[in-house]
Amino acid sequence: MRTHTCNDLRKEHVGETTSLVGWVNTKRDHHGVIFIDIRDREGVTQVVFRSEESAAAAELSHTLRHEDVVKITGTVAGRPEIDGQSTVNPNIATGEIELVARELEIINRSEVLPFQLDKELSNEDIRLKHRYLDLRRPRMARNLKVRHRVTKACRDFLDEQGYLEIETPILSKSTPEGARDFLVPSRLNPGKFYALPQAPQQYKQLLQVAGVEKYFQIARCFRDEDLRADRQPEFTQVDIEASFVETDDIIALVEGLLARSFQEALGVEVPAAFPRMTYREAMDRFGSDKPDTRFGMELTDLADVFAKSEFKVFSGALQSGGAVKAINAKGFACVTTGQMNRLSETAQLHGAKGLAFIKVEDGQWKSPIVKFFSEEEKAALAAAMDIEEGDLVLFGAGPWETVCEVLGRIRLECCEYLNLLAGNTDWNFLWVTDFPLLAKDEESGKWNAVHHPFTRPKAEDEAMLDDESKFGEIRAEAYDVVLNGYELGGGSIRIHEGDLQTKMFAALGIDAAQAQEEFGHILSAFSFGAPPHGGVALGLDRLVMLVAGEDSIREVIAFPKNNRGLDLMSASPAEVDFKQLRELYIKSTREEKKE
Ligand code: AMO
Ligand code: AMP
Repeated sequence: MRTHTCNDLRKEHVGETTSLVGWVNTKRDHHGVIFIDIRDREGVTQVVFRSEESAAAAELSHTLRHEDVVKITGTVAGRPEIDGQSTVNPNIATGEIELVARELEIINRSEVLPFQLDKELSNEDIRLKHRYLDLRRPRMARNLKVRHRVTKACRDFLDEQGYLEIETPILSKSTPEGARDFLVPSRLNPGKFYALPQAPQQYKQLLQVAGVEKYFQIARCFRDEDLRADRQPEFTQVDIEASFVETDDIIALVEGLLARSFQEALGVEVPAAFPRMTYREAMDRFGSDKPDTRFGMELTDLADVFAKSEFKVFSGALQSGGAVKAINAKGFACVTTGQMNRLSETAQLHGAKGLAFIKVEDGQWKSPIVKFFSEEEKAALAAAMDIEEGDLVLFGAGPWETVCEVLGRIRLECCEYLNLLAGNTDWNFLWVTDFPLLAKDEESGKWNAVHHPFTRPKAEDEAMLDDESKFGEIRAEAYDVVLNGYELGGGSIRIHEGDLQTKMFAALGIDAAQAQEEFGHILSAFSFGAPPHGGVALGLDRLVMLVAGEDSIREVIAFPKNNRGLDLMSASPAEVDFKQLRELYIKSTREEKKE
């Protein structure tokens, strides 16, 4: 239908007859002469309708509206000078020319739009309801392209490394990745359900037993969990698994993969090897297992300062085996009451009993707690925290993990209030290693896998699986890759021996009979010559979000759900016909509840 795209025409085309198709991006009326910008996915071109060129086209052009789909044939002309002023538009690639229309065909009219495409719109629900319009906006069109580039870079890189792309079932069996499953009733097997995969974890391990050696998949995963800016109920992983590998092999592979993605999508060089930090160090210094290392404000341990303090909140915490730590938000003594209240709420939400502070103003420490400190404690504190005029020091006291996590969140919130990352262009990649293998659920007293039940304990720690009192100390052969405070991906070396896997299940409170019933296939597979193997999964949506400079993964997914899990465009999830349910042997309890 066209001779060129809307981003093709240049000075050298002047005089040629060309045809463009696309959408009416803008329309201006200059003393009865209509100018439009016609847009396709490649760009925009200015079109002018002069009656001396074609009276019919010029007349019809008056009826054009934004987003009408049109075909225009005409002659390419250089932009004229008017009153000695150039009309060249340096902001667009086609700015030196315009198309003087001879024929105008209105292919499809557009109604008045529900929102303007050339303005940022804060109401995301309206955007999502008309996503097909939202995606026409240049920023969104660009995000789709970035996603394609990143995905293709991953595929090309892994192909070059000898990895085979293999699809695994979507209708599969419930697998314990930690979130709730989405279930699909089986009509052919009344009362039974498939689960949508939270990740292809078991299949990719079974493919190693099958001798595939190097597997990858751009895999759709489904998790029924509470949604956030970086979480969707369905999302995509670059899922990887390989045989005869160790942690360093997977780490090097992912570093190469990310280097390629950043090179192809952004032209950015990333370091050949990323720094590594143990979980323990990440928590101790940054209060997070996905630390944002683009700014300091690290957590300082104050056990030495307050071990014998009169202030019982601190000394008590230390005596019962906990920690006292603080951060120094430099220059934030100007914190408002509202901000301080929100910081305290954050602290309490994450398990703190309080958020003690010192504001340094007019040479004084303004604080509800310094009256409890001795002179030595004050001096030691000032030295440890480098306390100066204008600082805000925030304290946590209690169990180590709670203190770290609380101050980690407070640190991020202070960073936001202080706008510390404005204009920052760093890409801080980081490996976090040596995660705990197991964590105790305080409510039920049960041990859960921190990653998933197939993750291998570190060889040095394996023996502790025989002693429940040591479970909390076992480290996993697991690693997460973190970028600017986001968990991009995670993986581990796996258990490949039936007896070790059975022991791991036992630690998780899964007895032999239950293990057979739920995981018989994997235990059986491990009994027929299973190679040592390991892998990783990268969150593709998060990766693309960061590459595209967005702050929600919804901006890089063509048709995302909103933060309540709804697809507003197609209005799903939706009610279904009673007959459909009956065929599936399903009875909704919702009606009963209503009655
Ligand atoms: P994990 O559960 O850590 O590991 O997931 C891997 C990566 O997937 C991304 N991710 C998500 N992205 C968007 N929305 C979500 N709801 C969501 N949940 C997770 C994150 C995360 O780092 N099978 C293991 C991997 C392995 O061991 O190889 C797994 O799924 O970026
Ligand atoms: P209280 O003695 O409970 O009145 O607390 C005195 C100050 O210490 C208040 O500012 C509290 O917010 C703070 N505080 C109490 N418990 C903790 C804790 N576990 N960690 C940090 N600050 C605390």
